[in-house]
Amino acid sequence: MSAIPSIAAPPPKPLLAALGGAARKIPPIWLMRQAGRYLPEYRAIRAEAASFLDFCYDAKLAAEATLQPIRRFGFDAAILFSDILVVPDALGQRVGFESGEGPRLEPIDSAAGFKGLREELDWARLEPVFETIERVKASLPREVALIGFCGAPWTVASYMIAGRGTPDQAPARLFAYRQPDVFQALIDRLADVSADYLARQIRAGAEAVQIFDSWSGVLPPAEFERWCVRPIERMLKRLRAATPRTPIIAFPRGAATQLAKFASLDGLAAIGLDTAVEPRAAAAALPPRLALQGNLDPIALLAGGRALDEGVERVLQGFAGRAHIFNLGHGVLPQTPIAHVERLVARARGAG
Ligand code: CP3
Repeated sequence: MSAIPSIAAPPPKPLLAALGGAARKIPPIWLMRQAGRYLPEYRAIRAEAASFLDFCYDAKLAAEATLQPIRRFGFDAAILFSDILVVPDALGQRVGFESGEGPRLEPIDSAAGFKGLREELDWARLEPVFETIERVKASLPREVALIGFCGAPWTVASYMIAGRGTPDQAPARLFAYRQPDVFQALIDRLADVSADYLARQIRAGAEAVQIFDSWSGVLPPAEFERWCVRPIERMLKRLRAATPRTPIIAFPRGAATQLAKFASLDGLAAIGLDTAVEPRAAAAALPPRLALQGNLDPIALLAGGRALDEGVERVLQGFAGRAHIFNLGHGVLPQTPIAHVERLVARARGAG
């Protein structure tokens, strides 16, 4: 034994190790929508802002919301508290959130509507987001990684065109069939500004980023390729040029049999799998260099008890032996009991 004190580098944060391709006996864990209404401490600070967007743009409140689930559950990653719809907001589209009803935007239903958008993001408007990241970084435990995010072009465009959430994204699909050139221009604009937005989040301190394509599941194969795969490829190229090393996670929800099209994209570190994906089948089908993230059913988390325990076990076993990040197949539901989340974390880490 040497008398010289060791100055070995600290071990990498568990999330970043998994994103680097390392299989770990205990996978790192975080949950989509881990901040939010199921937490009483979130509901308490949410009441301090007049609107949900005001809340997102208040760096102090947003940093606090980001940190709350880390304090309570000790997750391996924090995700920036914000929303995917700050991008249309920063492009000059009017965006609001009706309480209990979700987002409301002034719909873009024509080429003229598209022309009214800014070409670049209004960076001054987004400044509080980057300040949120800096604040979180300053008080995050050493082993916890910070994830930034944005929506994928297709998912964000579906809200911009319909002006709200829709069950099947029919307004955006119709617009894309009727005016493919205008739609392509919108998607390209979103891909470029979203990549720049993520690069700026990374410069502020985000250590990994996730692209949420929550509505990719409704498209037929040719449209899936054109509106989901190619735009994310375009984002990856642009982002890789700006920030070559930061890992990127894509979450193409509902991609099902088309998942492999994402797996071959250059520069992707991980794929988020939704609830319907069979862990073993995905683990066998997708290249081993990719980390896989997911995919417990949020309803099993809501149910608790045996459904939760068995679900956790199936996820752990299905991804055993490869780089895996434990997560849900979609976001935490607002009615979820806190005790169920505590139990999930304990069991995913081999205790409980
Ligand atoms: O904890 C986290 O995951 C970070 C914060 C986060 C929010 N939204 C906070 C939020 C993230 C990553 C998102 C992403 C998001 N936003 C997506 C993609 C992920 C997914 O769920 O598929 C989408 C489609 C949106 C758009 C959006 N924002 C909708 C449809 C709604 C209304 C539905 C709802 O859950 O209320 C929102 C509002 C929203 N975003 C809330 C939160 C905590 C609730 C608003 C409130 O607290 O009043």
